[in-house]
Amino acid sequence: MSSQPQAIIKDFFDPETWTFTYVVYESEASPCVIIDSVMNYDPKSGRTSTQSADAVIAFVKAHHLQVTWILETHAHADHLTAAPYLQSQLGGQLVIGDHITQVQTVFKGVFNLDDGFKADGSQFNHLLKEDESLAFGNLSLKALFVPGHTPACMAYEIGDAIFVGDTVFMPDVGTARCDFPGGDAKTLYQSIQKILSYPANTQLYMCHDYPPTDRPVKFRTTVGEEKASNIHIHDGVTQEQFVQMRTSRDLTLEMPTLILPSIQVNIRAGHFPKPEANGTSYLKIPLNAL
Ligand SMILES: [Fe+2]
Repeated sequence: MSSQPQAIIKDFFDPETWTFTYVVYESEASPCVIIDSVMNYDPKSGRTSTQSADAVIAFVKAHHLQVTWILETHAHADHLTAAPYLQSQLGGQLVIGDHITQVQTVFKGVFNLDDGFKADGSQFNHLLKEDESLAFGNLSLKALFVPGHTPACMAYEIGDAIFVGDTVFMPDVGTARCDFPGGDAKTLYQSIQKILSYPANTQLYMCHDYPPTDRPVKFRTTVGEEKASNIHIHDGVTQEQFVQMRTSRDLTLEMPTLILPSIQVNIRAGHFPKPEANGTSYLKIPLNAL
């Protein structure tokens, strides 16, 4: 791991979607990054709101931070990103992994989008290549390619912390599903082994937590704890065993409530579809396609 100043990591939790957002920075008034934001969305009314993102904005302003990069670990299927809203309020550049073009291509087909939608990643300001580094002040992050849940998933390494996205969850929750278009359990196994090859005390920051008991929500664990006790992928679980478990478990899972709105917005970097002649943006629902 690179030696750099100790990062301060502030977590935010969105209870509607069980999602963590992080602000990472060195000190008061320093540059910062924001990882995985949430735009609140009510599927009953089709109405969006910004309470989750506004908490992040208030924190950034209170600490006089300068937003450099607004990152996604992947195109989320369970919540809309607030990245463009954060950018409009705070500045910064929208960033995701360069394999997002594969996800855009698949869902351009699923949603039968016309040529107004380009599957070339151009909706983002920067596409990260594997192992690319991004600086923010005296800190830097390294982009780790960790596909499996989606073909474009990234994790972000900053000092002794890794923001793991949807790969592993807390040890008592397990691992991310692999049954969305382009997902693959064998690939996820290999990506998780990459994360678990870091030193045991490496801090892993979750994208979500879904407590299986009445324990409080937790946003952080370590490589050592995952290897010792992750219910799906602790030390000794073979790739074959993992793929068998993951594949059969995924068959029992329902689609996330917000998958259709989330994907349509998130493959546009969080922008809504172009308003129609009456000024309203519409989302599509493909029947019998997923
Ligand atoms: Fe996800």
